[in-house]
Amino acid sequence: MPKLASADDGQLRRRQRWPWWPLLPLYPYGRRRTLVRELVPDQVWAFEQVQGVWYVAVPIRMTVLRVRAGLVLYAPVAPTTEVLEALAALERRYGPVCTIVLPSASGLEHKLPVPAMARAYPTATVWVTAHQWSFPLPLPLPWLGFPAGRTRVLLQDGVPHGDELDWCPLGPLDLGLGTFLEIACLHRSTGSLLVTDALVAISAEPPPVMALDPTPMLFHARERGDEPMEDSPERRRRGWLRLVLFANYLRPGPLTIPPLKEVLGQALAPGCRSPQSHFGLYPFRWQPGWQAQAEALTGSALGADPVPQVAAVLERLVFVRARGALVQWLQELARLKGVKQLIPAHYSAPVPISAEQLRMMALELEHRNWAPSQGSWSLLAAIDGSLLALGLVPGDERAAKH
Ligand SMILES: [Fe+2]
Repeated sequence: MPKLASADDGQLRRRQRWPWWPLLPLYPYGRRRTLVRELVPDQVWAFEQVQGVWYVAVPIRMTVLRVRAGLVLYAPVAPTTEVLEALAALERRYGPVCTIVLPSASGLEHKLPVPAMARAYPTATVWVTAHQWSFPLPLPLPWLGFPAGRTRVLLQDGVPHGDELDWCPLGPLDLGLGTFLEIACLHRSTGSLLVTDALVAISAEPPPVMALDPTPMLFHARERGDEPMEDSPERRRRGWLRLVLFANYLRPGPLTIPPLKEVLGQALAPGCRSPQSHFGLYPFRWQPGWQAQAEALTGSALGADPVPQVAAVLERLVFVRARGALVQWLQELARLKGVKQLIPAHYSAPVPISAEQLRMMALELEHRNWAPSQGSWSLLAAIDGSLLALGLVPGDERAAKH
C-alpha cells in the first residue's frame, strides 16, 4: 500500500526533523535519524546519528547514563522528536533527565544541540566546560541559548554527581584560534569511560547507525561518477572504509583528483541523474593501497573489537604540539578505578579498555613518530604549516598550555 507507506514516511520525517541545521550545515541537514542502543542493561544508552560534509558522514553519539537522581545526557545530539520520545521512555523507567553535559569547548557539533536540549528539559542543570568560544564573535553563553540560571561550568563550579561519576579534563590547550578542552567522565557503576573527540575506535564494519541511511557509503563505494549507487554489504563496507580515510586525513594519500573534463564527462550518466548521487559528479580516483591504509586505521580484522586511538586529524591539527598533555591525560585516566569500556562521541562504542591499556597507549604515544607529515598526513601537515606561518597557532609545546 504505497499511500500508507508514504504517510508513514512523512510522519517519520517530521519526528526526525532538526530545524537548527543551518547553524552548522552538515549532511544530512534537516533530517537526523537516530539509533538508540542499550549499551549496559538499565544503565547506559547510546543515541547515535550521522553527520558530515560531502557525504563524509560519520557517527556522532550522545551517551545517557543512569545515576541515582535520574539520567545524565553527555554530549547531546540533535533533540528531534524521535530522540525526545526515546528519552521520555527512559525517564518513565529510570527517572528524569537531571543533567545535561557539554564536555567539549571546541566541538561545534556537540555544542549546537545543547540549547535546544536544555529547553526540552527546563528543570535539568546544564554543565559546560570552561573556555566555550563562538565564531565569528565571542558571545556570552546566554546569548548562544544556554539558560543563564541553570548553566554551570564543569570543575570551576564543582561537578555533577561527584559520588557516582569521575571527571577528568584534557586541556585547556591554546589552539590560537580557540581553546581545546574536553572532559572525560567515568560512570563508576559500569566502568564506562566517556570521551568526546580525543579518542576514537573505528570498526572495519560500518557501525549499525550507518545502515539507517546507507547513501554516504554507497556514494563513496564507486570508482567513477557514472557508476550507479548499487547496494550490497561489500559496497557498504568499501564505502565505509573510504569515509573513514576522508574523515581522518581529509585527503588520503591513495587518492587522486581526475581532470575536470573527465569528471564532467561522467556526470548525468543513466542511473546517476539524481541529487542523491550528486548527478554523477564524483571527483575522486582511489589508487591501489587505499584499503590497507583504511584497515590500518581500524587496527583490527573484521569482526574484532576496534583499537582505541587518537584520531589522525586531531593528532596533526590539535595535539600536534601538545603530545605531553595528551600523555598526561591518558595516565590520569589509567589511574581511575574500574575502567572497563570506552564510549567516545564518534565511531564505534563501547570498546573494551583497561587501565593497563590506557597506560600502554600513553607510553606508545610518548615514543612513536608523532604527527607525521608524509603520505596521507600531507594535507593536514600543510594546513598546520599555513596556520603556523600566519601566526594563528602557537609554535611549540609550551605555548600549547595555558
Ligand atoms: Fe566531535
